[in-house]
Amino acid sequence: MSVDLRVNLSSLNLKNPLLSASGTFGYGLEFAPYGDLKTLGGIIVKGISLKPREGNPPPRIVETPCGMLNAIGLQNIGVEKFLEEKLPLLPEETPVIVNMYAQSGEEFVELARILDKAEKVAALELNISCPNVKKGGVLFGQNPLLAAELTRAVKKVVSKPVMVKLSPNVTDIKEIALAVEEAGADVISLINTLGGMAVDIYRRKPCLKNVFGGLSGPAIKPVALKMVYEVCRVVSVPVVGIGGISKVEDVLEFMLVGASAVQVGTANFMRPDTLFRLVEELPLKMKKLGIKSFQEWIGKLEV
Ligand SMILES: Cc1cc2nc3c(=O)[nH]c(=O)nc-3n(C[C@H](O)[C@H](O)[C@H](O)COP(=O)(O)O)c2cc1C
Repeated sequence: MSVDLRVNLSSLNLKNPLLSASGTFGYGLEFAPYGDLKTLGGIIVKGISLKPREGNPPPRIVETPCGMLNAIGLQNIGVEKFLEEKLPLLPEETPVIVNMYAQSGEEFVELARILDKAEKVAALELNISCPNVKKGGVLFGQNPLLAAELTRAVKKVVSKPVMVKLSPNVTDIKEIALAVEEAGADVISLINTLGGMAVDIYRRKPCLKNVFGGLSGPAIKPVALKMVYEVCRVVSVPVVGIGGISKVEDVLEFMLVGASAVQVGTANFMRPDTLFRLVEELPLKMKKLGIKSFQEWIGKLEV
């Protein structure tokens, strides 16, 4: 039995549904020693801003049961250097999706304009959900009106597909999803990290200098699955599932509840070859389950 791994995200045609999650796969190149980047469904690079950012002071990562907390604060080299030094080195065969961060609507629009002109950028991912920065970030993602306004403003100036990444730190994620869909989002991705905190009783201090961080990894998978399921039931644009994915079974679970593709994040820190292994293992698991293509699997959960 031959297996067809192809999936579509709006006008983006992917050879398989496995994407890297922003901030956990560097600029992509860092992972080239662990596998062939050309085999991936897509590479989502770390959050890029107009100007370089140093991020938050350390400690900014701490391990927690079945996961981790991070408060990196979107450290990156800025869009100019990214386009000059990193993007040209990524393989042509794999769509590159740029995760965008800005502190204001105007900055988001300016950044989107610049990235839209870069031929090798396949799509943009709007990060309106980062919990670890003082300005912008999750503020947009927690308010349906702001989220929609930003999506509309960005869509107006770009021709590439726009994926909007949602925060789980809200009362009703469906409301935000519907708002960004209505505003023109081509794809919706979720979830970003869940707000959390860790404490060191011996030093009487928070483990993170930033006090709060974002929780990721297997610990958040059930929360992410529920949210992806809920969002898939109300929107008609493709949804990309994120949260605690480390095994092929996880990939298939997210797709069964309705995701058209997935992003793998923290698992890249556990084993840097995780995504490459998943690309190899996915068709084998599909064969075992008798799945010929994702058309017969996406959203086919029987409830
Ligand atoms: C160290 C670290 C850095 C991250 N940086 C970003 C980022 O720059 N932009 C973004 O949208 N999400 C960022 N995220 C969130 C991930 O892309 C992902 O949504 C989240 O970690 C949940 O998936 P996971 O459980 O597979 O890691 C980051 C996560 C981690 C752990």
